[in-house]
Amino acid sequence: MTDKKIIKAAVIGHPVSHSKSPLIHNYWIEKYGLNATYGTRDIAPENLQPEIKKLIEEDFAGFNVTIPHKESIFELCDVLDERAKKAAAVNTVQIKDGKLYGTNTDIFGFTHNILQKADENIFSGPCGIIGAGGAARAAIIALVEQGAPEIRITNRTKERAENLKNVAPDKIEIIDWEKRSEMLDGLSLLVNTTSLGMKGQPPLDISLNALPKTAAVCDIVYAPLYTPLLRQAEERGNTVITGIGMLLHQARPAFESWFGVLPDMDGALQNLVLA
Ligand code: ATR
Repeated sequence: MTDKKIIKAAVIGHPVSHSKSPLIHNYWIEKYGLNATYGTRDIAPENLQPEIKKLIEEDFAGFNVTIPHKESIFELCDVLDERAKKAAAVNTVQIKDGKLYGTNTDIFGFTHNILQKADENIFSGPCGIIGAGGAARAAIIALVEQGAPEIRITNRTKERAENLKNVAPDKIEIIDWEKRSEMLDGLSLLVNTTSLGMKGQPPLDISLNALPKTAAVCDIVYAPLYTPLLRQAEERGNTVITGIGMLLHQARPAFESWFGVLPDMDGALQNLVLA
């Protein structure tokens, strides 16, 4: 018998059953032989505050946050790091001395997914973002961190793209949705952050003719792993980057913050999550 304390973490959301986080974190808990648990808590928005209090009382090390709490948790955190502030959303919380420390690991996840397939030079040319939701914001913050000189954003609803401009006003250019194919001229990296191409959704309607063959194309969608956009890009010889790596990489710093180990990426985990 060991009296070593069990370190507890969980994902909170509503619903939460779709979350892949338990699969990922429990895989690593087992892989690294840790005395730890990672569960789920389905919390309705109206119960958020008392349920968070319970997690603190139950001595949780922290938690992940999924839909619909990413913005509300932002308000409840005692301390927010720079990434959480810039993203205006928190997906990972560490609890220390009863206080909530919020961060956003999607930005780390985005960058490390790209760097798994491409080198840092990919960020040194103009980058294009399709979409303007939370995923687009994380991607844009990551691109700014990596020193991208120019970021072009196009979105069906132009006002939402305009709302992202304040992330880096001198670098961001908003392109009309009708001009999305022309926008690709001269890009070194193109990223789809919309749900177009996802299982059950129509594909992203775009011509890649103007995209340089040296550009990399990344899709945040990972079901299917190879979206119509990625297939189209691969056929013409572009480097393609699937979305699954963002999901896996964003979990690594969260795991480290609670359990003290920064996990390595491995193919078996990817297969498990995609199965
Ligand atoms: P997330 O936070 O995961 O990025 P979101 O905020 O719902 O999700 O954003 C989804 C993105 O997909 C948005 O850019 C959305 O465009 P709108 O802002 O115009 O809604 C985009 N999207 C979803 N369905 C689309 C469609 N049929 N055509 C074009 N864009 C679409």
